Amino acid sequence: ASVADRVRAVVAAHRDDRGALLPILHDIQAEFGYIDQAVVPVLAEELNMSRADVHGVITFYSDFRSEPAGAATVRLCRAEACQSVGAERLVADAEQVFGVKLGQTTPDRSVTLQQVFCLGNCALGPAAEINGRPFGRVDRSRLIEILASRET
Ligand code: FES
Repeated sequence: ASVADRVRAVVAAHRDDRGALLPILHDIQAEFGYIDQAVVPVLAEELNMSRADVHGVITFYSDFRSEPAGAATVRLCRAEACQSVGAERLVADAEQVFGVKLGQTTPDRSVTLQQVFCLGNCALGPAAEINGRPFGRVDRSRLIEILASRET
């Protein structure tokens, strides 16, 4: 099926929801892995919204990716407890190690770097989550080590 057909199928599944844009976007990201620009006009038409409004919602929520994620999604906590034990340093180190900013994916698609505000692992800050797995007391060398030891 074409991208537009797949998008319409997702919209159809939410036909009975009110204000369904967010759940639809979550489902589209689950289906495609990210939200392609080509999806915007289809959604705008289907939901009777302007393209600018659809685009605005996608860019407002950091949950939504506009390009495929890297093999490893690294989420670094920047909330208060982690900040007090060096989260900002870790973010700066990660940006330097991977050569990308928060929210970006490395050109080889090995890593997507993201921020998050509290992972519920505050006692073990700086906290990180890598492909959904929690890690505590992360610093530059531990981050490199964790990623190097991943099997995928
Ligand atoms: Fe970082 Fe809670 S503040 S895990």
